Amino acid sequence: MFNIHSVRKDFPVLDEVIYLDNGATTQTPVPAVNAMNDYFLKYAANHGRGAHRLARQTTDNYEDARDRIADFLNTAPENTVLTKNASESINMVALGLNWEAGDHVITTLVEHHSNLLPWMRLREKGVDVTIVGSDSEGCIDPKDVDAAITERTKLVSVNHVSNVFGSIRDVEKITHIAQKSGAMVLVDGSQSAGHMAVDVNKIGCDFFATPGHKGMLGPQGTGILCIKDPDVLEPTYVGGGTVHAVTTESYELEPSPSKFEAGTPNIPGVIGLGRAVEYVQEIGVEDIEKHEKDLASYAAKCLAEIEGVEVYGPEDRAGVVPFNVEGMNPHDVAMILDETRKICVRSGYHCAMPSVEMLGVEGTVRASFALYNTEEEVDSLVEGVEQITMLA
Ligand code: ALA
Repeated sequence: MFNIHSVRKDFPVLDEVIYLDNGATTQTPVPAVNAMNDYFLKYAANHGRGAHRLARQTTDNYEDARDRIADFLNTAPENTVLTKNASESINMVALGLNWEAGDHVITTLVEHHSNLLPWMRLREKGVDVTIVGSDSEGCIDPKDVDAAITERTKLVSVNHVSNVFGSIRDVEKITHIAQKSGAMVLVDGSQSAGHMAVDVNKIGCDFFATPGHKGMLGPQGTGILCIKDPDVLEPTYVGGGTVHAVTTESYELEPSPSKFEAGTPNIPGVIGLGRAVEYVQEIGVEDIEKHEKDLASYAAKCLAEIEGVEVYGPEDRAGVVPFNVEGMNPHDVAMILDETRKICVRSGYHCAMPSVEMLGVEGTVRASFALYNTEEEVDSLVEGVEQITMLA
């Protein structure tokens, strides 16, 4: 197991606050910040667009970052498209597949809005959308996905880990079920990549979307879309960087991934993400997974023991623990935790209104963990919540 005290030195803000809002964004380690600084201060130039030394170094470092990200997710660089976040990645699939009226998409009730709205919008094109229900702990039974499949099902889109409940999906099984019927599968790995070992090749999904700024510890404005067969998808945007021949009558697109990356990309962000992924690899993602799961189970157990606190989600959870204090608004709980103990948690609907409303509440407080959190921080959260119950 890694040495958490030396890891924490790479995240200086942790000396100031107890940061338990990792489901929204994680902190970025010093080596990744330094890699971005180096880009700006030592060799900034554009990617793939120049013969001079700075352009070559920028292009090499950007492509090295892509190689590392592809290796980390166990896919190939040509199948690894760099985007600005998971929402963009998912929208690229919704906008880039060739939909016909009567086609069918399956998603679930327990999804982030970014894995719900892009499919709901397809209803305007005559696409049928089925939203599979979940149990009260945010778990989806793959059999329910199976039962929803029709001969027109073109895509099944599910998350790997719920950002509301921390429930973990058997995405390999769901992929197998869907593909057996000829449907494609998109896995939203926003809360899994970097938090647990993710092997895109082994999952077998057609698309895997994730941001860079969560478990992978990269900066905001970075995201990934892994595409198994790039020929099935039209690029959402075209322009500079996507073509190798242009006349006023026609153009020829570059192969993947270039054809999906129009315009100057987030070069410093991608270089920072590459270094952040290397950092995660050095620590070991299996150890990170165990550490975060242990913290989440400990937090869920201790919070559930407090009278007047309700904890949601399954026992076997990733590092996400939603709860409510009876008689208190979740935003007030979050504000008090911040003001009294500098504890940062998220409160509200977590960009997933249907999932939260299923609980019959108007929001939850959510503690979400990363590799750098400690048991002492959980103890402080639990004490803080206990004090709040006395105010209720
Ligand atoms: N998807 C992010 C969250 O769950 C923003 O907080």
